[in-house]
Amino acid sequence: MKSEERMKKILLLPGDGIGPEVFGPVQGILEHLVKSGHALLEWEDGLIGGIATDRTGFPLPPETVEKADRCDAVLLGAVGGPKYDTLPYDKRPERALLGIREHLGAFANLRPARLFPELSGSSTLKPEVISDLDLMVVRELTGGIYFGKPRGIVTEEGIRRGINTETYTEPEIDRIMRVAFDLARKRRKKVTSVDKANVLESSVLWREVAESVHKKYPDVELSHMYVDNAAMQLVRNPKQFDVLVTGNLFGDILSDEAAQLTGSIGMLASASIGGKTGLYEPIHGSAPDIAGKDIANPLAMILSLALLFRYSLDREDLAGFLETSVRNVLKEGYRTTDIRGDGTKKIVGTREMGEKVFLELKKVLENK
Ligand code: IPM
Ligand code: MG
Repeated sequence: MKSEERMKKILLLPGDGIGPEVFGPVQGILEHLVKSGHALLEWEDGLIGGIATDRTGFPLPPETVEKADRCDAVLLGAVGGPKYDTLPYDKRPERALLGIREHLGAFANLRPARLFPELSGSSTLKPEVISDLDLMVVRELTGGIYFGKPRGIVTEEGIRRGINTETYTEPEIDRIMRVAFDLARKRRKKVTSVDKANVLESSVLWREVAESVHKKYPDVELSHMYVDNAAMQLVRNPKQFDVLVTGNLFGDILSDEAAQLTGSIGMLASASIGGKTGLYEPIHGSAPDIAGKDIANPLAMILSLALLFRYSLDREDLAGFLETSVRNVLKEGYRTTDIRGDGTKKIVGTREMGEKVFLELKKVLENK
């Protein structure tokens, strides 16, 4: 622990579906870090998503927002489920996700897609295409078509029309580009900006601003790619990418694709930063089809906690210990069913995988 460290507070929002299950190991890990003197931490639980609607009538209750404002970071599981699919748009669990991202001003969503070497046989892609893969998707998270106005469903002369608007302002593009270039500086110094500038004016501006921000980062290489081509290149030759920066909708789609390269969407963590309080969540959803069956992969959740230590608490050391623990457990051959493949010695459930990482973390901390 650093001597000058002050007490940090984390808000835990397990949410719906597999959310609470993959959250299982989190509490034990936090308790151990505090007890063993590795961190000064406190945490509290909150409600978000369908469970929040069930209990309070709101998917994002005001109390959760107030709690988030009092914390240094928010760790979120997943929201949503079939039970809530027929709710009116404003009551849907997904609204809570967009609401909290917007409230926290978390405009930069970092989705690192790194292949653990142990999982090169678990991807549906050939090992040579993905070995050593390490790319970062930087997705703009609080703008674009997700938030643009006008939006809605209107009826004109008896015909219904659904409307959404893709819109980006210059400052919005400027700030996400800076995040991408800053990250690239600490990596392989390559930014690929993904847009649809051959069709969309918002993308024309996106490209122009990317170019102008690039002038301040002459040491970083910038290239542009249309989103359709980027989708293809990601499966054709993903190792050409270092940092991929793109808008909200394109980033949503491309980050799922990038996740699959690493073996399973159950492996990918994300950090949403840029505001006062960072938000950390696995990129997978609530997976209602497998909820409650003790088969979900908790590693994306654990790796999200690692990102929380890295980006919100300035504890690169703890982030590294967690990542090493995950790596060691994979090395030992433990796999949840989504990442089974070559090198699997034992298929374990959510709970057992969480326990293995926890025990490994204890060892890593003792031997450091
Ligand atoms: C994600 C998810 C969300 C999104 C949904 C659940 C609203 O797909 O975090 O990628 O589209 O942002
Ligand atoms: Mg998504």
